[in-house]
Amino acid sequence: MTSGSRDLSGSDAGAAPRLALAALLRGRLRGAGAADQLAALDSLDPQDVTGSAPSADPGGLPVLAHLEEAVALAREGLDHDDGEALAAVAGSVSWVQTEAYRQDPPHGNFLDGYAHATFLGPTDGGQGPTPAAAAMGLLLLAPGVVYPHHAHPADEVYLPLTEARWSHGAGAPFEVATVGTALHHRPWQPHAMITDARPLLALYLWTGAVTVPATWTRGDSPAEAP
Ligand SMILES: [Fe+2]
Repeated sequence: MTSGSRDLSGSDAGAAPRLALAALLRGRLRGAGAADQLAALDSLDPQDVTGSAPSADPGGLPVLAHLEEAVALAREGLDHDDGEALAAVAGSVSWVQTEAYRQDPPHGNFLDGYAHATFLGPTDGGQGPTPAAAAMGLLLLAPGVVYPHHAHPADEVYLPLTEARWSHGAGAPFEVATVGTALHHRPWQPHAMITDARPLLALYLWTGAVTVPATWTRGDSPAEAP
């Protein structure tokens, strides 16, 4: 990590805040005793910074209209430096949507209300320059969105930065998750989220099969009816 100098040119411009968010998550994982995920996070090559969005390519995803509000809400639970890092990362990453979701959206407004952005490690679109055991990123959901149950072979830790309701199993009830407390999903464990009046912004850490995207598990809860 080269935080001693503030080189704002090239990829280094994005590295420091991304590594600051990794350090934030590392602290929460330590507190939760998540040794395996901590080791995977520590194994990430700090230079394996996933590409920033060029300024000419904002992505155009409708959910990004809620990003500023989501970051502001998230900052209420973060110290100044972490809040600055979050704002810098959220504003520079490439926000995307899982291709399988685009091909098969679960309901009418989902694609208008969801995006994610991997900012350390390989994305689910392919391998990084070196084999990696982990990938870290951000999830953004607009208010009033149901993100139905889905699953993936990667182990996952989420750190919610704003309030939303979460379900951690097929048919499991949706309950408000505590902001700043890590949530764990084992490989292939179905999980789902619902936002109410506020957007959801959450950090995620995938370990293991990080290049295999999520798929819907479908129909486990009446709450997921569009
Ligand atoms: Fe997940």
